[in-house]
Amino acid sequence: MKKRIYITRRLPEEAVEPLREHYDVSMWEQEGESVPRDVLLEEASSAHALWTMLSDTIDREVFECATQLEVVSNLAVGYNNIDLNAAKEHGVIVTNTPDVLTETTADLTFGLMMMTARRLGEAERDLRAGEWKSWLPMGYVGMDLYQAKLGIIGMGRIGEAVARRARGFDMEVLYHNRTRRHESESMYGFTYAELDELLAQSDFVVVLAPLTDETRGMLGAEEFAKMKETSIFINVARGEIIDEQALYEALKSKKIWGAGLDVFTKEPIDLDHPLLTLPNVTTLPHIGSASIRTRLAMMALNRDAIANVLEGKEPKNRLT
Ligand code: NAP
Ligand code: GLV
Ligand code: GLV
Repeated sequence: MKKRIYITRRLPEEAVEPLREHYDVSMWEQEGESVPRDVLLEEASSAHALWTMLSDTIDREVFECATQLEVVSNLAVGYNNIDLNAAKEHGVIVTNTPDVLTETTADLTFGLMMMTARRLGEAERDLRAGEWKSWLPMGYVGMDLYQAKLGIIGMGRIGEAVARRARGFDMEVLYHNRTRRHESESMYGFTYAELDELLAQSDFVVVLAPLTDETRGMLGAEEFAKMKETSIFINVARGEIIDEQALYEALKSKKIWGAGLDVFTKEPIDLDHPLLTLPNVTTLPHIGSASIRTRLAMMALNRDAIANVLEGKEPKNRLT
């Protein structure tokens, strides 16, 4: 009997096909829809491997019903959607997709900074709506990236790739991280700052830390109040790291100049969310790693990790 692999989303056949010869592979086929919870639990109960998305909650209940399960491989570098303790207790290996998405996500982060600072979304929406009547001397004026001060909270793989790009824009880079990165400081000229100092000084505050018990709600009213009135807040990490209501209030009352968000506490964000009423917010539907090459590279990592575990070999990017 072939071992069973269940994939919680429809993936391109080229990413899945190499597994079909040796394994019994099935997936949630409904395009554009997350797997319903009852289907996930039912499928997990007979699967040897689960290939999961960041939108799936892989909690203790899943591990408890998944009696054959050997591996969970998540199509993301972030793994806050998976209960690693429960995985360990049940002897299940969990893997993720670091490194291959670093540069692509850094590109998107820079794009979102540019989009927010130069009001690109607003300008494009107006043009398409027939609102471009004439060239205006002070039309769509925004903030400059070049020579601005960039503050990165969470200086890991992606943070460093963003900081490297910032050098091309002649930006000064401050960072705040759990661990000091002495080597990168001297190699790239970054400066370490305490969180308060980073918030007070930066023109762009960019969050790239993982969602953990420590970072949940780390940026709220108090932190936004410390930022400059001309500053821009960017979140490409996870929505739950910030207090969205407090961000809304800081933007509404012009305590900060603008925000660019790729991630939200609830995804998709509700269309009546207060943040979507503000002109100085740019929003994207969680597309940090979304280039064709990178998504296929992430899938290749998941596929190899699953095959390795099912063959009794050591997988790459093991979290448990
Ligand atoms: P990484 O290399 O692990 O970097 C994360 C950094 O955050 C590490 O340097 C870590 O410090 C630091 N950190 C952890 N807890 C902290 C805290 N309490 N205060 C300050 N810094 C803290 O991860 P990565 O590959 O760069 O990815 C970062 C995150 O980006 C992922 O976890 C994911 O949530 C998000 N992401 C989003 C997208 C998207 O589509 N929007 C795409 C990819 C990733 P240490 O050095 O001490 O560990
Ligand atoms: C995307 O958000 C990821 O964590 O890879
Ligand atoms: C703008 O297009 C300019 O020429 O300044």
